[in-house]
Amino acid sequence: MKLLVPQEVVLDGVQSLLEAGAELVRCENNERALIDAIGDCDAVLARTEVYSRNVLEHAKNLKIIARYGVGTDKIDIEAANDLGIWVSNTPLALTNAVAEHTVMLILTASKNMHYCDKNLREGNFSCRATLGVELMGKTLGVIGFGQIGRAVAQKCKDGLGMNIVAYDPNMKKDHIPQDVVVAMYIPELLSQSDIVTIHMPLIPATKGMADKAFFASMKDGAIFINAARGGIVVEPDLIEALQSGKLFAAGLDCFSSEPLPLDNTLYALDNVVMTPHNASATTDSFLRCSQDMGKCVMDVLLEGKRPRYAVNNPPMPRVG
Ligand code: DGY
Repeated sequence: MKLLVPQEVVLDGVQSLLEAGAELVRCENNERALIDAIGDCDAVLARTEVYSRNVLEHAKNLKIIARYGVGTDKIDIEAANDLGIWVSNTPLALTNAVAEHTVMLILTASKNMHYCDKNLREGNFSCRATLGVELMGKTLGVIGFGQIGRAVAQKCKDGLGMNIVAYDPNMKKDHIPQDVVVAMYIPELLSQSDIVTIHMPLIPATKGMADKAFFASMKDGAIFINAARGGIVVEPDLIEALQSGKLFAAGLDCFSSEPLPLDNTLYALDNVVMTPHNASATTDSFLRCSQDMGKCVMDVLLEGKRPRYAVNNPPMPRVG
C-alpha cells in the first residue's frame, strides 16, 4: 500500500498503516512531480496541492484523496467522481484553530497591534498616538455561518461583548444561537457591521464576492477580515478601500495568489495585518486533522467503505 505525501503532514493518524508496512511516497508540490509520483499510490494525504483532472488521470490505483484540512477547492471533484476516487476532508478538526486566529486578526487590526509592534522595534515609541477602536457593543457581521463562522461568533459574543449579525445561504434554523440576528442578504449585513468576517468556501458563487460594491456597502471605518479563501476577494478593490480610508483596517490570512507576490501593495499598507494562510495551523489542530484524515484513509483502504468525512460521491468507487 502506498500513500502519497507531497507536503509535510502529521502522520499519527496513519501510524497503524505504516506499522503494517504501508509505504510513504514523497514528491515536490507541482503538477509534473505529482503526475510522476501518483501512478501507483493508493491514497493521497493532501494539503494545498492542485489535483487537476490531468493529475488524477495518471492516478491509476488511487482510491482516496484524504485532505488534511477543510477546503477542497484545489481538487477537481468532478474528475474524482468520474474516476471513482473518494475525496474526504477533516471538517471538525480545524474549527477552533481558525476561529481563534480570526479573533486574533480582529483584535490585532482593531488595536493597530501589528503597526505598533513594527514601529516600536524601529524606535518609534510615538506610534502610541495612533488610536485603536474598541469591540464591546460593536457589531460583527459573519458571512458563512458553518462550524467556523459559528465558533467565531460565539467567541466574539461571549468573550468580547459584541453583537452578531450572520448571513449564510444555507442557514439552518437550529444553527442560530440566541442573540444572533440573521441577515437575509449580504448588503443588509454589511450596512450594520463594524467588522465583517468571511467564512465561506471558494466556489463559483463566492469567487470575487468581496468587490468594489461590497466594500462600498460596508460602514465607513469598518474592519474586514478574511481567513477563508483569497479568491473570494477582489484584492485591488480591497486595497482601494483601505487606501481611501473607507475601511479602518483589514486582517488577512489568505490571498488571491499564494505565496503573496512580494510586489503586492498589501505589504505597503500599515492598516493591514497579514498571516501566511496558517490560521488552521496549530499543534493541536494538526493532530486532530491527522487522526480524522487517517480514519478516512482506513475506511476506504481497509474496510472498502465510504470515508466518514466524504465530500464527494463517486458513482462507482474504486476498490482495493
Ligand atoms: C483548510 O484546511 O482549508 C485551510 O485553509 C488550510 O488550507
